[in-house]
Amino acid sequence: MRLTAFIAAVSAATFLAGTACAAESGKFLADRHAAGGVKCESCHKAGPKEAPKKEDCLACHGGSYKALAEKTDKGDINYHATHVGEPECTQCHQGHKPPRLLCDQCHEFQVKVP
Ligand code: HEC
Ligand code: HEC
Ligand code: HEC
Ligand code: HEC
Repeated sequence: MRLTAFIAAVSAATFLAGTACAAESGKFLADRHAAGGVKCESCHKAGPKEAPKKEDCLACHGGSYKALAEKTDKGDINYHATHVGEPECTQCHQGHKPPRLLCDQCHEFQVKVP
């Protein structure tokens, strides 16, 4: 699982920065989905022990990266339409831990990932 190894490596690096944000909102993304009535299995289509794939997220969020990007277009940098292509959502959004921003491996963007 290359992705899992990647997540582990990057979360270690971004953990401290992310903790402050998470403390502000009090809950993680999966908790907010649960509060909205989204069940574990709706995200975890591949099984409870696998991180959700982008297709699983897109099933509720527009159907494609293109459609998602249209919805989140604010006329500035659109984090869903970039030169990185179509990465896994979990390169930025996290289910049960602080989010991070893939882009900041190379850039320094001041944006809060939900
Ligand atoms: C079963 C449908 C469903 C699935 C699957 C789903 N979401 Fe959501 N998501 C929602 C709903 C409903 C909302 C709240 C309504 C809104 O703001 O659009 C939401 C809101 C969000 C938000 C913004 C609101 C917040 O609380 O920050 C983000 C970011 C998000 N989802 C990302 C994801 C990611 C990433 C995945 C996959 C790991 C995912 N969603 C899977 C239904 C879903
Ligand atoms: C490169 C990082 C990155 C990736 C990858 C990414 N997102 Fe996001 N996403 C963001 C950021 C940053 C925001 C908040 C700023 C914005 O809305 O542009 C956001 C916001 C959202 C929102 C809330 C939009 C709103 O208007 O409230 C949803 C829903 C969402 N993302 C879903 C997804 C899904 C589904 C995927 C995978 C298909 C995904 N994102 C992949 C960075 C990312
Ligand atoms: C919004 C979608 C979403 C919902 C709802 C959700 N999860 Fe997750 N879950 C994720 C994501 C994304 C990951 C990948 C690691 C992370 O971001 O924390 C994950 C990771 C996990 C993992 C660890 C797997 C691994 O090694 O990465 C477990 C266990 C898990 N979730 C259990 C649950 C349970 C139990 C529920 C219901 C109470 C639930 N999840 C609801 C998105 C979700
Ligand atoms: C592996 C390193 C790397 C990552 C990760 C990365 N970028 Fe870049 N990005 C670059 C380089 C290199 C350039 C070109 C630098 C220049 O011309 O100044 C660039 C240029 C840009 C530009 C300038 C306009 C353009 O398209 O050429 C924007 C905007 C941008 N990146 C946004 C992003 C966003 C948003 C993300 C996250 C989804 C991201 N980048 C992830 C390396 C990266």
